Amino acid sequence: MSALSVKHLLGIKDINANDIEMIFKTADTFKEVINRPIKKIPSLRDITIANLFFENSTRTKLSFELAEKRLSADVINFAASSSSVSKGETLIDTVNNILAMKVDMVVMRHPYAGAAKFLSKHVNATIINAGDGAHEHPTQALLDAFTIREKVGDLKGCKVAIVGDILHSRVALSNIFCLQKLGAEVMVCGPATLIPKYIHELGVKVEPELKKALEWCDVANMLRIQLERQDIKFFPSLREYVMRYGLNKEILNNLSKEIIVMHPGPINRGIEITSDVADSKQSLILQQVENGVAVRMAVLYLLAGAIK
Ligand code: CP
Repeated sequence: MSALSVKHLLGIKDINANDIEMIFKTADTFKEVINRPIKKIPSLRDITIANLFFENSTRTKLSFELAEKRLSADVINFAASSSSVSKGETLIDTVNNILAMKVDMVVMRHPYAGAAKFLSKHVNATIINAGDGAHEHPTQALLDAFTIREKVGDLKGCKVAIVGDILHSRVALSNIFCLQKLGAEVMVCGPATLIPKYIHELGVKVEPELKKALEWCDVANMLRIQLERQDIKFFPSLREYVMRYGLNKEILNNLSKEIIVMHPGPINRGIEITSDVADSKQSLILQQVENGVAVRMAVLYLLAGAIK
């Protein structure tokens, strides 16, 4: 097995196009494996993985756990809400106590940007970032790009518009890095208040009008409005957001070409995307979730190669 250029997966910024291609080729094999009647393989037997979730998750948590079990790893799960974190235990103490139980790899979601990197410098285990604040969500970007690749082939020259709350989105940042490393063109679209000021430094196009962004792109990745982070008013009302940035069937059908629609989930149906779009033939939302397992198996398998 060839190794990735990194020991931990902390962000897409840290890996190169060869790493991404290696992950995709490995995921192709695993996707075939998990569609067989016998889905389990012994690749990570004797590897113990702790899934530490300090923030809520449905897709990422279940997908990592299933990926680990398909590879025959021993798995332990930790949710901050039901742990001694509420009694004041620090992140390092929590993780070192878990590692004392002989854990090899840690998959961690945390509300603070940089938490996974911090951990990688202080504990002796392979760390995979499952989302750190508004920073990065590397496996989401990998599964998104893998899903586009499955549909269009080579991502070189593919035009992807990321629409919505770019400011608070770790999915947006990881997608921008991943798509650009694979040669795709990226545009962001949303209200000016939800576009970060540094966005031009990332080499992406910025388009304030949804219809223009959709006419430009081959793929629209519709982001969730992060209702839990709207303590400040970033737009006048949800109704106005829906009128300007909500994707509905009428807009989709009136475009001059057929585009692909994606969404990382969880969806706010009727806000960033209507149900008839989310459930349409053009939507790859459930393929993204399906591919998440194979892509995460590939990441775990390739990083575990450095442990064995
Ligand atoms: N896409 C994503 O990260 O979803 P969860 O928050 O449910 O894991």
